[in-house]
Amino acid sequence: MRILVIGGGGREHALVWKLAQSPKVEKIYVAPGNPGMLNLAECINLPASDFESVAAFAMEKKIDLTVVGPEGPLVAGIVDVFKAHGLAIFGPTAAAAAIEGSKSFSKELMHKYNIPTAFFKICSDSAAAKAYIKEKGAPIVIKADGLAAGKGVVVAMTEAEALTAIDDIMGSHKFGEAGAQVVIEEFMDGEEASLLAFTDGDMIVPMLAAQDHKRINDGDEGPNTGGMGAYAPAPVLTAELKQKCLETILKPTIAALKAEGRKYSGCLYAGLMIKGSDIKVVEFNARFGDPETQVVLPLLSSDLVEIMLACANGTLNETMVKWSDKSAVCVVMASGGYPASYPQGLVISGLAAANAADGVVVFHAGTKEKDGQVVTAGGRVLGVTAVGSSIAQAKDEAYVAVDKIHFANVHYRKDIAWRALK
Ligand code: AMP
Ligand code: GLY
Repeated sequence: MRILVIGGGGREHALVWKLAQSPKVEKIYVAPGNPGMLNLAECINLPASDFESVAAFAMEKKIDLTVVGPEGPLVAGIVDVFKAHGLAIFGPTAAAAAIEGSKSFSKELMHKYNIPTAFFKICSDSAAAKAYIKEKGAPIVIKADGLAAGKGVVVAMTEAEALTAIDDIMGSHKFGEAGAQVVIEEFMDGEEASLLAFTDGDMIVPMLAAQDHKRINDGDEGPNTGGMGAYAPAPVLTAELKQKCLETILKPTIAALKAEGRKYSGCLYAGLMIKGSDIKVVEFNARFGDPETQVVLPLLSSDLVEIMLACANGTLNETMVKWSDKSAVCVVMASGGYPASYPQGLVISGLAAANAADGVVVFHAGTKEKDGQVVTAGGRVLGVTAVGSSIAQAKDEAYVAVDKIHFANVHYRKDIAWRALK
């Protein structure tokens, strides 16, 4: 089979790495990809937002399955274009991807179908938003309605912070059109986990629960990032809680989307807040998580191509999805300065030595090739994943590998997986 993967970060490297293990696969193209994938796939440049051209490429190269990594093309309708051409593609249509693309749609869907989530109000006018904040008080959470590259959420611990967020989003248009509406939410206390699931629109099969580390510094301090590391399985989601999540969140959400005429297939990502036996949805994403994918896929013992084709064709079955009983930890190596500004083009050394260790894979996120060397080209540069017999062992092995990799001004957290080990 011939596969096309869309995207070029750590998540897509993990997808390509796992897809390449399938005996069914003869060739993988990735657009745009990154240097970490060069031994697994052919990296190509396709016009990112011109889906007709991407579909034309898929037809010309006789692609049997296309897999979309990031949310942008999903929300903008790449799946709709591929389906119109009769091409197999893994991911939701634009109407279904609205579960990530529009926070107000997602919250109203949960409300209508009794899917547990924080209380909320949708405001399209800043005076009404401010009045609601003053009525409710802090802590309170403000979310730009549309896609904002993961930066559209302000968890305001004071009323003043919440009011400033409204000025930034609705007054200064910090996120452009994405902030034309805001969702104001009750602050939820608890421990977060990410539960990703494969679905064909009727059947939904959860993956192993993961936990990522959004803050830049150890002890979950400092500004939010795209994710500084992850581990799986996350013990906070016990077997009992996972079953509860399947019954009260995942199954009802898939049924709700179908009932609304927005049948959802692909990977559904549920961001969860867990407190005791209580589970609520923080958000849904229409795609795999980054860096959750870098710890979940290395633990998948089944053929990912088979699963993805079944999701695309409506033939998903629980028995297709099997997991190893090991654990995985991924440590993100970032450019010093991230998530604010940082230099790029710094030479990275030690990649081969780190990759050579048993059970270790170095996923590239923000790298590029320059004069025959791999250099930094983003905030999150690498995700170093190790698989071990326990979280503790996987963590130790991941850090041994991290120690072998060098670039100037590197920053990484030393405490990935701390919640599982406390
Ligand atoms: P989101 O982009 O919706 O995942 O939000 C980013 C982060 O903000 C989440 O991972 C949570 O840590 C936090 N967050 C979002 N909504 C809430 C909420 N209602 N209560 C507490 N924290 C939240
Ligand atoms: N790790 C968070 C996300 O993928 O949205």
